[in-house]
Amino acid sequence: MRISLVSWFFFGLFIATFFSMAALSVSGQCQRDQQQFLLGFKNSLNFSLSVKLMKWNPGTDCCSWDGIACDTGGRVIRLDLDNQFLWGEINNSNSLFRLQHLRHLDLADNKQLGGQLPETLEKLPHLIYLDFSRNSFSGPLPSFTSLRNLEKLFLSDNQLNGSIFSTNWSSLPNLEILDLRRNSFSGTVPPTLFQSESLKEIFLAENQFSGGFGEVEGEFSSQLEVIDLNHNGLEGQFPMFVFEIKGLRYLSLSWNKFSGVIPLNAFQKLKNLSSLDLSYNNMSVDSSFTNLPFPDVYELNLASCNLTKFPEFLKNLSFLQILDLSNNRIHGQIPSWIWTPHLYHLNLSLNFLVELERPSNMSTRMSVLDIHGNQFQGKLQFLPQGTFYLDYSNNNFSSVIPSEIGDILYSCEFISLAGNNLHGSIPESLCSNTYLAVLDLSNNSLSGSIPQCLVRKMGEFLGVLNLKQNNLSGTISDTIPEDCGLQTLDLNQNRLGGKVPKSLANCRMLEVLDLGNNQIDDTFPCHLNSTSELRVLVLRSNNFSGDVNCAVNITWPMLQIIDLASNSFSGKLPQGLLMTWNSMKPNKAEPYSEQLRYEVQRVVDIYYQDSVRVTMKGRELELVKILTIFTSIDLSSNKFEGHIPEAIGDFKALYLLNLSNNALTGPLPSFLGNLPKLEALDLSNNHLAGQIPLQLANLNFLSFLNLSNNELTGRIPLGTQIQLFSEASFENNAGLCGPPLEVQCDSPPASEGGPSNSETGKHVNWNFVSVEIGFVSGIGAVILPLMFFKRWRIGYYKCTDGVVYKFFPKLDPRNRTCRTISHWTPGRRL
Ligand SMILES: *[C@@H]1O[C@H](CO)[C@@H](O)[C@H](O)[C@H]1NC(C)=O
Ligand SMILES: *[C@@H]1O[C@H](CO)[C@@H](O)[C@H](O)[C@H]1NC(C)=O
Ligand SMILES: *[C@@H]1O[C@H](CO)[C@@H](O)[C@H](O)[C@H]1NC(C)=O
Ligand SMILES: *[C@@H]1O[C@H](CO)[C@@H](O)[C@H](O)[C@H]1NC(C)=O
Ligand SMILES: *[C@@H]1O[C@H](CO)[C@@H](O)[C@H](O)[C@H]1NC(C)=O
Ligand SMILES: *[C@@H]1O[C@H](CO)[C@@H](O)[C@H](O)[C@H]1NC(C)=O
Ligand SMILES: *[C@@H]1O[C@H](CO)[C@@H](O)[C@H](O)[C@H]1NC(C)=O
Ligand SMILES: *[C@@H]1O[C@H](CO)[C@@H](O)[C@H](O)[C@H]1NC(C)=O
Ligand SMILES: *[C@@H]1O[C@H](CO)[C@@H](O)[C@H](O)[C@H]1NC(C)=O
Ligand SMILES: *[C@@H]1O[C@H](CO)[C@@H](O)[C@H](O)[C@H]1NC(C)=O
Ligand SMILES: *[C@@H]1O[C@H](CO)[C@@H](O)[C@H](O)[C@H]1NC(C)=O
Ligand SMILES: *[C@@H]1O[C@H](CO)[C@@H](O)[C@H](O)[C@H]1NC(C)=O
Repeated sequence: MRISLVSWFFFGLFIATFFSMAALSVSGQCQRDQQQFLLGFKNSLNFSLSVKLMKWNPGTDCCSWDGIACDTGGRVIRLDLDNQFLWGEINNSNSLFRLQHLRHLDLADNKQLGGQLPETLEKLPHLIYLDFSRNSFSGPLPSFTSLRNLEKLFLSDNQLNGSIFSTNWSSLPNLEILDLRRNSFSGTVPPTLFQSESLKEIFLAENQFSGGFGEVEGEFSSQLEVIDLNHNGLEGQFPMFVFEIKGLRYLSLSWNKFSGVIPLNAFQKLKNLSSLDLSYNNMSVDSSFTNLPFPDVYELNLASCNLTKFPEFLKNLSFLQILDLSNNRIHGQIPSWIWTPHLYHLNLSLNFLVELERPSNMSTRMSVLDIHGNQFQGKLQFLPQGTFYLDYSNNNFSSVIPSEIGDILYSCEFISLAGNNLHGSIPESLCSNTYLAVLDLSNNSLSGSIPQCLVRKMGEFLGVLNLKQNNLSGTISDTIPEDCGLQTLDLNQNRLGGKVPKSLANCRMLEVLDLGNNQIDDTFPCHLNSTSELRVLVLRSNNFSGDVNCAVNITWPMLQIIDLASNSFSGKLPQGLLMTWNSMKPNKAEPYSEQLRYEVQRVVDIYYQDSVRVTMKGRELELVKILTIFTSIDLSSNKFEGHIPEAIGDFKALYLLNLSNNALTGPLPSFLGNLPKLEALDLSNNHLAGQIPLQLANLNFLSFLNLSNNELTGRIPLGTQIQLFSEASFENNAGLCGPPLEVQCDSPPASEGGPSNSETGKHVNWNFVSVEIGFVSGIGAVILPLMFFKRWRIGYYKCTDGVVYKFFPKLDPRNRTCRTISHWTPGRRL
C-alpha cells in the first residue's frame, strides 16, 4: 500500500515537471544574438554578488535564465535585475541597448550602478516599463521622446540634474507614471505635464525645481490622480489649475515658496481628494467658509499656513486619520470635536493653545500626539492610552507628573515633557512601559533621585535619557545592564553626586554623555574604553580630579566635542588619547556621507535631536543640531601642566580650543597655526613662554584670541591679522611688546617675512598648505550630511539652520544647495 502511494507521488511530480517544461517552452528558444547581447551586458558590469547573473550559463537557453523573459520568437522582452548588487557604468555602447524587443527593464536598487543615463535608451522603442530607481545615475536626463509605448518611468533616488525639458512629455501618449523624486533636477516644471491625457501620477518631490506655473492654459482633460511636488523651490501664485483636475486623489505642494491666499472651499470640486499637503509655503489658507462640504480626506497637512482658528469643516471629516495644523497662529482651546473616530496622528505643535477640551469619545487608535510649543498650563492630565509618540514639551504645565503615567502610556516609545514647570519626582511607573525608547524630561523642576528601574531600562529599548536642567540629586545607580543600548545620556545641570557608574561601560553605543554641572566626585572615566561611538563628552563643572592619562587604551575616533572645564584634573594633557580623536582630523571626519543617499526610502517618523551647550567667547551657546563637522575642545580651569601636546596640531577640523586657566608651560607651539578652521583660541592664564609664532597669522578664521596672563615675550608679529585683536588679548605678558600693546619694543622689527626665533627647526610645509586648499574646496560635497543622527532614526531636513552659523560663519551652508538628507543605519527599531 505504502509503495503505491509513493509511486503516485512520483507520478504527480513527473506530471508537474512535464507541464512546467511545457510552460517554459512557450517563451521560445533564445535567439543567439539575444544571448550574446545579454552576456555582453553581464560582462560590462561587476556582478560578483548577483545571485541571478552568476547563474547565467552560456550553455543553457537564455530565455530560461533568472530575470529574463522572452516572447514566443525567443527574443528577450523582460529584464528584471533589481537589487542584484550590480556595480559599474552603463554607457551608450552597452549591448543592453541592442535588445530591441525589450518591454520591461528593471535595474532598480543597484546602488553602485551609475554613470550618465545613456542616450541610447531611446533605441528601445518597445519599452513599456523602465525602473532605474535608487541607483547612482548622474548628469542630465536623456530624451525619452521616442519611447512612445512607455507607461511607467521610475528614476527616483539618483543624482540626475539639469532640466527635464529634453523630453517632450506630451508626445508620450501612454505615459501613466513619472517618478523623478529625490534627484537634483532644476529649472521649471513644464506645465504641459499637467495637461497630458495619459499621465496619472507625477512625482517630482525633493528636487530643485524653481519658478512658477503662471497661467496654465488650455483644456484639462487630465487623468491626473497624484501630484507630488513637495520640497522644491517653486514659487509664485498657488497653481489654481489643480482645481480643474477633478480626479485628483493626492496633492502635495509642501515646502515650496508658493504665495497668496488659498480659499479652501475651492477644494470642494475635488471630490476624490484623499490627501492634501500645503504645509510650509508662503501662503495663507482661508478656512472661513462654514457650510460647504470639504472632500472626505484621510490626511490633511496645513502646517505653517497662517491659520488662526480650527477650520469648522474638520468636524465633518469622518475619515480623517492624519491632521497637521502645526506652526500656525491658533489660539484658545482644542475643541472636543477634533477627536474624530479615525484620527491617529495629530500635530498641533507651535500654536498658542492653552486648553484642551476632553474628547467625548476618543479614538483608541491615537498613536501620535504632538502639542509641543503651545501655552498649555496647569495640571498635566490628558494622557491618551496606547499612544506611541507623545510630545508635550515647551508648554507651561506645572504639576507633578501623574504617578500612573507609565501605566497609561504603556506602549509609548517617545515621551517628551521637556521645558515645562513640572515638579516632584520621576514616577517609577515609567519603567513599566516596555518599549520606552526616548524619555525627555529636561528643563523642569523635577527633584529626588533617578529611579533605579529607569537605569535598568537601558538594557531594553531606551536609547535617549535626557533629564538635564532639573534638581535631581543622589547618585547614578551602578546597575546598568550588560546589554545597554543607550545612545544619549544627558544629566547636565542637576545636583547629582557620586561617581560615573562603572557599568556605563556596558553602553557600547553611547554617543552623547553629558554629566556637566553636577557634583560628581570621581576620576577621569577611563572605563569608557569600549564606547567607540562617543561623540560628545561633557564633564564640565564637577569635582573630577586626577590624571587624564588612562592605564587602558581608549579610542574615541568619533569624538567631536569634549568639555572637561572647571574641574580639578591635573597632570599632563593625554597625547595618546588625543591621537585617537579622528573626527577632529578632517580626512576621517565624515564616516556617513557615502551611505546617505540610499537610505532615503526607509521612512520612520521619529527622530531625536541632541543638543549640547558649548561655552564660546564667554557665552553659552546651545547647539541644537550638532553638526557632524563641529569640533571643540575645552579643558579650561583645571590644573593641567606640561606642554601643549603635539597631537592637537592634527586637529584640522577644530573650531574651538580652550586651555585657559591651567598651569601649562613651554612655548606657544607653531603647529597651532596649522588648524585652519580654528575660530576661538583661549590659552590665557597659563605659564606659556617664548615668542608668538608667526604661523598664528595663518588662522584666517580666528575671531577670538586670548593669550593674556602668560609669560610670552618678544614682538607681536607685525602685519598680520593677529594685530586686529585688542590689547586685552595680550595683556599681562611681561615680555610682549609692539602693537596692539602700547609697550614699545627695544629692538627694531625683524626683516619682513623673516622667521621668528620661536620657529627654529620648523619651516612652512607648502605641501601641507596645498592639501588644505584641496580640502576646503572639497568640503562642499561633505557638508551636506551635517546632522548628528541616531542609529535608528531617520531625519527629514530640508536645510540646516540655527544659531550655530552666526558663530561659525564657515559652517553656513546657506549659499550651498539645500536638499533633503536623511540617514538610517541598521539598529534598533523605534
Ligand atoms: C563603455 O563601457 C565598456 C565596458 O563597460 C567599456 O569597455 C567602454 O570603453 C565604454 N565606452 C565608453 C565610450 O566609455
Ligand atoms: C566588484 O564588486 C564587489 C562588491 O560588489 C567589490 O568588492 C569588488 O571590489 C568589485 N570588483 C571590482 C573589480 O570592481
Ligand atoms: C550636473 O552635475 C554635474 C556633476 O555631477 C555637474 O558637473 C554639472 O554641472 C551639473 N549640471 C547642472 C545643469 O547642474
Ligand atoms: C510635443 O508633442 C506634442 C504632441 O506630439 C506636439 O503637439 C508638440 O508640438 C510637441 N512639442 C514640441 C516642443 O516639440
Ligand atoms: C472618483 O473615484 C471614483 C472611484 O474610484 C471614480 O469612479 C470616479 O470616476 C472618480 N471621479 C473623478 C472625477 O475622476
Ligand atoms: C511671501 O509672499 C509675499 C506676498 O504675499 C511676498 O511679498 C514675499 O516676498 C514672499 N516671501 C517669500 C520668501 O517668497
Ligand atoms: C498671515 O495673515 C495675516 C493676517 O491675518 C497677514 O497680515 C499676513 O500677511 C499673513 N502672512 C502670510 C505669510 O501670508
Ligand atoms: C457638516 O455636515 C452637516 C450634516 O451632516 C451639514 O449640515 C453641515 O453643513 C456640514 N458642514 C460642513 C462645514 O461641511
Ligand atoms: C509636528 O510639527 C512640527 C512643526 O511643523 C514638526 O517639527 C514636528 O516634527 C511634527 N511632529 C511629528 C510627530 O511629526
Ligand atoms: C464611542 O464610539 C464607539 C465607536 O467609535 C461607539 O461604539 C461607542 O458607543 C461610542 N461611545 C459613546 C459614549 O459615544
Ligand atoms: C577596557 O578596559 C578593561 C580594563 O579596565 C579591559 O579589561 C577591557 O578589555 C578593555 N576593553 C577594550 C575594548 O579595550
Ligand atoms: C595601548 O596601545 C599601544 C600602542 O597602540 C600598545 O603598545 C599598548 O600595548 C596598548 N596598551 C594596552 C593596555 O592595551
